Amino acid sequence: MSSPSFPSSFLWGAATSAYQIEGAVREGGRTPSIWDTFSHTPGRTAGGEHGDIAVDHYHRFRDDVAMMADLGLDAYRFSVSWSRVQPTGRGPAVQVGLDFYRRLVDELLARGIKPALTLYHWDLPQELEDAGGWPERETAYRFAEYAQIVGEALGDRVENWITLNEPWCSAFLGYASGVHAPGRTEPEASLRAAHHLNLAHGLGTTALRSVMPARNTVALSLNSSVVRPLSQDPADLVAVRTIDDLANGIFHGPILHGAYPRTLFDATARLTDWSFVQDGDLAAIHQPLDALGLNYYTPALVSAAAERPSGPRADGHGASEHSPWPGADDVLFHQSPGERTEMGWSVDPTGLHELLMRYTREAPGLALYITENGAAYDDKPDAEGRVHDPERVAYLHGHLSAVRRAIADGADVRGYYLWSLMDNFEWAYGYEKRFGAVYVDYGTLARTPKSSAHWYARAARTGTLPA
Ligand code: NOJ
Repeated sequence: MSSPSFPSSFLWGAATSAYQIEGAVREGGRTPSIWDTFSHTPGRTAGGEHGDIAVDHYHRFRDDVAMMADLGLDAYRFSVSWSRVQPTGRGPAVQVGLDFYRRLVDELLARGIKPALTLYHWDLPQELEDAGGWPERETAYRFAEYAQIVGEALGDRVENWITLNEPWCSAFLGYASGVHAPGRTEPEASLRAAHHLNLAHGLGTTALRSVMPARNTVALSLNSSVVRPLSQDPADLVAVRTIDDLANGIFHGPILHGAYPRTLFDATARLTDWSFVQDGDLAAIHQPLDALGLNYYTPALVSAAAERPSGPRADGHGASEHSPWPGADDVLFHQSPGERTEMGWSVDPTGLHELLMRYTREAPGLALYITENGAAYDDKPDAEGRVHDPERVAYLHGHLSAVRRAIADGADVRGYYLWSLMDNFEWAYGYEKRFGAVYVDYGTLARTPKSSAHWYARAARTGTLPA
């Protein structure tokens, strides 16, 4: 028996990001980003791996788009490498860089695949980091200029735009725990980074709208956490509030509602008085959005700690002695129950339903997209070279069922982008964690769709979830 259908307009997509797939880091005038520097710094990534070649998408994009078409994808979410189109993060655009994305987009459009373009997926030009990076206000202005350049160049052919991907990771993994580039461990600076990322989103949105056709949509992708208490003890509920503010409210507060949560100021008062928020910033950030992108992988389970926890934390964001949660020293993270993926993240589709219903309540009328969802498993080809990944099929089935349930419950979910189209550079974890629906042989760079890719193609074709 087939499952109930998704709306016929529902977009079935897949996602990637520039540094994770492109390679060609020294071609066409591209200069280093913070991820080039970080990944080439000993001890920063597993096995010292980096994105110099990645999966060589820069040279293979035509074949990759053909593969997407074979899989029947409606949509593809990719990101632009800032240092490819505006090396050093300032000044005029490099045409070779823009041309690469123009050709990619034209190839997608020729095959009937809707592009969704993310402007910033974590790869800040190194020169902007050398000037202070996201903790500096100037970086937000630089981003707005970059947004305008890309908007002018591609606004005629890309309809769906995403300013930032997961600003939480840029701010807190980049500047607090330091497990991501640029690897700084400065709690106060991480809060400034968060504010300037918000400002970049607001100014970037305004810049895009000033140069693009009105039909284009502007969104951003948040990795909004579903935060659950270990018990109903009031102290655990306070821990939930603290983490919810630092994971979610710090971004959706100003972006959707024009204000930071008061409780966020209280929790971080020891670190900063937030005087970096200038008059007019909140209005600049609080721009009307056409849609909200949500990236969901797993929920968080927290409790209050009697004393400051020591040692690496079990919050699923990589091992560091430094917390990515500034001001939340009194919160403990716990492993959620149930089955886990290769990342150690628990599989819990109910969290996705919860998240969609939350934003349906908090931002009524705003279109929602799942801009990332997926799982890493230890995939290996069999003797015939086929890759069977039943765990990923089960993961996708569970999460897409949760999306469909949310739609039935009134959530306006317009589409889903599987993370990821193909195996790629998983940041500090290097190439070992495979999130792709398509297997990449890192010796030959050959692509082989896994059974999950075939399953997903059937779902996209029929608008229902195959058993
Ligand atoms: C979120 C990020 O946007 C993406 O770059 C990353 O690979 C996936 N999560 C999986 O960790």
